[in-house]
Amino acid sequence: MANENHLPDQEKLDCFMDRINAGEKIEADDWMPEEYRKTLIKLISMHGISEIMGALPEKEWVPKAPSLKRKLGIMAKVQDEMGHGQLLLRVAEDLMKPYGKNRESIMEDLFSGELKFHNVFHMEAPTWADAGLIGWLVDGAAIITQTNMLDASYGPYARALKRICAEEVFHAQHGESIIIALAEGTDAQKAMIQDSINRWWDSLLMFFGPGDASTTGTSKQDITIKYKIRTKTNEQLRQDFFTKYIPRVLSLGLKLPDPTMRFDDISGQWIYQQPDWGRFKEIIKNKGPKSEERLRLRKISYETNAWVREALGSPVHS
Ligand SMILES: [Fe+2]
Ligand SMILES: [Fe+2]
Repeated sequence: MANENHLPDQEKLDCFMDRINAGEKIEADDWMPEEYRKTLIKLISMHGISEIMGALPEKEWVPKAPSLKRKLGIMAKVQDEMGHGQLLLRVAEDLMKPYGKNRESIMEDLFSGELKFHNVFHMEAPTWADAGLIGWLVDGAAIITQTNMLDASYGPYARALKRICAEEVFHAQHGESIIIALAEGTDAQKAMIQDSINRWWDSLLMFFGPGDASTTGTSKQDITIKYKIRTKTNEQLRQDFFTKYIPRVLSLGLKLPDPTMRFDDISGQWIYQQPDWGRFKEIIKNKGPKSEERLRLRKISYETNAWVREALGSPVHS
């Protein structure tokens, strides 16, 4: 904080940090420093809107799913993701009240490009294997980042995550089941999964964000850790993902798209090729292959449904 004139009352801040350090939950109406509120708004709005944007690549596969069972499974998942989005946007909305903003502002920020959504949801899902891989590994990655925040200091977010994580486990199982069925199938089906993993590998690495805050000029990771919103860094989470999923990928007879990847016994870390972080920054600025199309779809449904919001928000006339 550069200007001391703008510091909140020191006593309030000390008391707030004592509560955080004692593991107490902060609630929506409690006093909180502006840095904490703004960090939560950014994090939770981005998470919420990513759930909603994340439903779009899989929604494309609802009419094309190969059986009724798969169609019902993917439809239920898409519906869950929209529900997660709604739950989280309500949590974000409560935090925004002092700034006079609401859920409509979140949508406006999405359309103006001010609010970013997760890099993975800017990407294409051209085959059925992509639909499976999103559930298996993208939801798998989300479980790793979200369970890291299950004990977040902000009570409403922690409680929402508890429900969301329980459903994400079903999503990962649904994806894994699609991938296992393809892995047990024909050579063409096996090749389809390998193509999909090759296509998604960099996006999966990017999912956890850049590793070293000093090279990216951001201390966002440090702020969320300081306030006990999460405990692990981006790199620790990415390493957890490798440890959990690399043996599973290999056990299906798939190859890692990074031939240099290995586990280093001395450092206890996976050594891997960094994805192109310059490309990552471009993708989240809505310059990914599907960014524009998905934003357009979201905007159309937002505008089409305006009458529902108006009807619900308008006073009841007798
Ligand atoms: Fe979700
Ligand atoms: Fe999910």
